[in-house]
Amino acid sequence: MIREYTQADIDAINEIGKLIKEDFASIYKISELNRDYAGIYVYTEDDEVIGFLQYENHFEITDIINIAVAENSQNKGIGETLINYLVNNTEADKIMLEVRENNVSALNLYNKCGFVEINRRKKYYDGEDAIIMERKIS
Ligand SMILES: CC(C)(COP(=O)(O)OP(=O)(O)OC[C@H]1O[C@@H](n2cnc3c(N)ncnc32)[C@H](O)[C@@H]1OP(=O)(O)O)[C@@H](O)C(=O)NCCC(=O)NCCS
Repeated sequence: MIREYTQADIDAINEIGKLIKEDFASIYKISELNRDYAGIYVYTEDDEVIGFLQYENHFEITDIINIAVAENSQNKGIGETLINYLVNNTEADKIMLEVRENNVSALNLYNKCGFVEINRRKKYYDGEDAIIMERKIS
């Protein structure tokens, strides 16, 4: 199932977040999120968090900040389910995100979920382009 996170989920999110960055916990400080505009959907199985999607709402735009699925639960449709859940629950007009050009799994996931490239930040990540994508909500 998918639900909004609680403080009790923080350790599990930080552990899965290491797939994004080894120092995820200190960079994103999710225990201090401002819940007026930021949130995290967690995907659980038998009460265990096995994936999450961190987002921020900024008026007509919702940004995907991070998404990750535990390694042994990948390729089972969980990432896609989390994005579809956000699409169905946001009140924004569009969802935006930024992804490294070499992150093939994430790029394929975003393309599959209807995101299109709208811009690039050249050599933004250590020589790699950052691709900015959006998906309009109809
Ligand atoms: C990107 C990520 C969240 C995808 O989650 P997932 O649950 O495995 O993805 P899904 O099973 O829902 O797959 C949906 C689509 O994504 C793409 N995809 C997922 N894993 C892939 C892989 N290893 N290689 C290529 N494409 C892949 C495919 O298009 C797939 O559709 P298909 O099964 O019809 O081919 C996951 O690989 C992950 O946690 N990666 C590490 C963290 C990360 O890089 N996050 C993104 C930046 S914040």
